Amino acid sequence: MRSSLGARRDTGRQESRPWKTRAVSELGAARSRLLRMLEGLPEDALTRQHSPLMSPIVWDVAHVANYEEQWLLRALGAPALTDAAFDSLYDAFRHPRSSRSRLPLLSPERAFAYAARVREASLEWLQHLHEESDAPLLRGGFVFGLVAQHEQQHLETLAATLQLMTSHEYRPAARPRPRPGRTAQHELFIPGGPVRVGSDAAWAYDNERPAHTVDVAPFLLDAHPVTNGDFVVFVESGGYADARWWDPQGFEWLASEGIRHPLFWEPRDNGTWLRRRFGWVEPIPPDEPVQHVCWYEADAYARWAGKRLPTEAEWEKAAAGSDVRPRAYPWGDTAPGEGHANLGGELWGPAPVGSYPAGQSVDGVWGLLGDVWEWTASTFGGYAGFKAFPYREYSEVFFGTEYRVLRGGAWASAPVAVRNSFRNWDYPIRRQLFAGFRCARDAR
Ligand code: AVJ
Ligand code: FE
Repeated sequence: MRSSLGARRDTGRQESRPWKTRAVSELGAARSRLLRMLEGLPEDALTRQHSPLMSPIVWDVAHVANYEEQWLLRALGAPALTDAAFDSLYDAFRHPRSSRSRLPLLSPERAFAYAARVREASLEWLQHLHEESDAPLLRGGFVFGLVAQHEQQHLETLAATLQLMTSHEYRPAARPRPRPGRTAQHELFIPGGPVRVGSDAAWAYDNERPAHTVDVAPFLLDAHPVTNGDFVVFVESGGYADARWWDPQGFEWLASEGIRHPLFWEPRDNGTWLRRRFGWVEPIPPDEPVQHVCWYEADAYARWAGKRLPTEAEWEKAAAGSDVRPRAYPWGDTAPGEGHANLGGELWGPAPVGSYPAGQSVDGVWGLLGDVWEWTASTFGGYAGFKAFPYREYSEVFFGTEYRVLRGGAWASAPVAVRNSFRNWDYPIRRQLFAGFRCARDAR
């Protein structure tokens, strides 16, 4: 079903800049977002452990800088600023998040200074590199994409940390929400057939490679993510108490945690609901995608609704469009702009569904990128021909059945870190993510 609003004229800017130009601009965008996000936070908020799930904020800051030092300086032959002992402090595999506040970390002042010093050195070193280099780390500017995306991913993680602060002290300035165009949920028929999955783009991650073709059976997909208004019906009709809807392990988890609604929701005496979103406590807006639900909650809702979660391949088929022309984004190859999707963190929350007509897919699916990550039915694994690059700990060590894949990116994800092929993953019990879902159904 192709709506007239969605008649795609892909006239925006495609990514054709020299990679050095793109690198400077994406590194700059990440750093200015980092500084804006943390500006004015008291020392104690930067060093305290806000949740056992998250690092102290100051750890993320120095970790991002240390990662940049490792990949944009040392790996490219530039002089080192620190050494391996220092790396170990900021090695995510050596220290679980919950133990990081007990490490001898850099103070906030020193962490910011270290980050600035590394950035200065890597931009300086960039000038000695060749745009045409064919070295694996430099082809198409790969490591610069890696580092820019890494910093942006940590900024999304920091947004989750700030949301978990219990003191309500973090109340950022948010841009106003757009006005929704069309909001009613409906199902779209997605014709089956081959789809190009994954990516060979220069800045794609190893877990997206190699691009390959898979066949998907026809299916039905919700045009919009499931909204708060949809989800509250499940909550209020006893969905959390009825084992029929739940994966057995999920139901056990629910019982042991005493969970009866999404994270950050608060029931009111008069039967309505509030939510806490950063420094705001507000009535739950019914027409925004539900967020802060885990995979078990998404899976249970879908079963209750007589549906299921889409697989990764189905999600990517919906994003690619049934005409089988490979596209980086649902709307085409134009880099995400303000009219396409709610990305980049400036709204500090999802927008009402139907807010981004220009972001629709070829088949008329709304909101695939931005607003909320979408849980899929799939566990995380490597595609046939997968090769860990440039290190095993980004993706490969997470392959297996423990993690579920999320697609699409959230309001807190940066444009540089989202595309049709991008794969995120987490445990099925995690709710601090800016994650929701949409439902699918077999077409037969
Ligand atoms: C891809 C979001 C699951 O945060 O664990 C950051 C990204 N990898 N530093 C994570 C990441 C290394 C990763 N996720
Ligand atoms: Fe990291």
